[in-house]
Amino acid sequence: MAILITGGTGYIGSHACLELIRAGRQVVALDNLSNSRRAALTRVEGMVGRSIPFHQVDIRDRAGLEGVFRAHEIDSVMHFAGLKAVGESVGQPLRYYDNNINGTLVLLEVMRAAGVRSMVFSSSATVYGDPKRVPVTEDFPLAATNPYGRSKLFIEDMLRDLVRAEPGWDIALLRYFNPTGADESGLIGEDPNGIPNNLVPYVAQVAVGKHDKVAVYGGDYPTRDGTGIRDYIHVTDLVIGHLRALEKLASHPGLVTYNLGTGRGYSVLEMLAAFARAVGRPIPHEIVARRPGDAAECWSDATKAKTELGWVAVRDLDVMCADVWRWQSRNPAGFA
Ligand code: NAD
Ligand code: UFG
Repeated sequence: MAILITGGTGYIGSHACLELIRAGRQVVALDNLSNSRRAALTRVEGMVGRSIPFHQVDIRDRAGLEGVFRAHEIDSVMHFAGLKAVGESVGQPLRYYDNNINGTLVLLEVMRAAGVRSMVFSSSATVYGDPKRVPVTEDFPLAATNPYGRSKLFIEDMLRDLVRAEPGWDIALLRYFNPTGADESGLIGEDPNGIPNNLVPYVAQVAVGKHDKVAVYGGDYPTRDGTGIRDYIHVTDLVIGHLRALEKLASHPGLVTYNLGTGRGYSVLEMLAAFARAVGRPIPHEIVARRPGDAAECWSDATKAKTELGWVAVRDLDVMCADVWRWQSRNPAGFA
């Protein structure tokens, strides 16, 4: 039996393929290649020494999806496919709702018809909106502040409704904090299109000389050094959390929800200092105005995943930066 990885050529999906195969599981990857390249999976194939079944299919393409479920014996789905750029979602809300919400709806209907009722879903700490306090636990009130966040929240609601209405589904909602890092081989990593919106890929591109300096958004937050605090989590720890969640689903728990974070926050300046240690020289930066919509602090309480899944993130900030740097410096043009 195989695990279907939607978004399998993407940043997190390609690392999931790698870790699942390393753990002895079979995977089938699916992606429409709207934000990734087949080359990521080719690299994974080289690392594990075997080919990985890949289907270039859009999750909104019902017939295409049905074909994938017919072609393989699939018993669960890790659902990474989705559009994820917050700013872009504000300008193109219908595209985000169609891709993320409609896509997930079609996927669930095809899964049900194929008798597959186990899913690990990529949710996000964005469903906590602007949290009133930190650390954030899973029972915090849910809110969304942009169309991307609303798409994640709506999908969570859809999945909660489904499990309530149709017992037999087993679904894990995994709320990621700030995924970063890369496989320690330096062979796969995050390869964003265009100018990165997120801090770490931007810092990495400054370090290879693609941009002059990092704009630090806000130096006047009520935090220890005035800059924003986030819970950066290594992508390898993150995908190992998915494996633990999949094992949990095998015990038929219905719907479960976990934060995937480290349980500690680092400021932008602390991240820049860690990256400078990895690179061996300072990262040029300048403090500028706050970015609208950013929270001062967002970091997880990771106790629930530790207690119920036996999972903790073990790779620290220096490992995250060293691994990003290995990937970025050896692949300055990404997979291109
Ligand atoms: P990514 O863009 O690298 O990967 C997503 C993949 O999905 C891409 O390869 C893209 O081509 C594919 N895709 C998009 N729409 C599709 C569709 N309709 N049909 C088939 N494939 C489609 O992003 P990622 O960082 O690997 O994120 C994976 C998931 O995790 C996403 O759902 C994202 O919202 C979620 N998430 C990411 C972060 C983060 O900071 N990276 C944080 C929280 C949640
Ligand atoms: N930042 C900068 N300069 C930059 C980019 C970011 O100073 O060039 C700062 C931000 O202000 C913030 C921190 O770095 O304080 C992290 O910003 P990111 O854009 O990397 O990440 P966010 O926490 O804003 O958002 C990420 C994902 C969202 C997701 C959210 C919660 O991009 O999709 O985490 O999971 F919703």
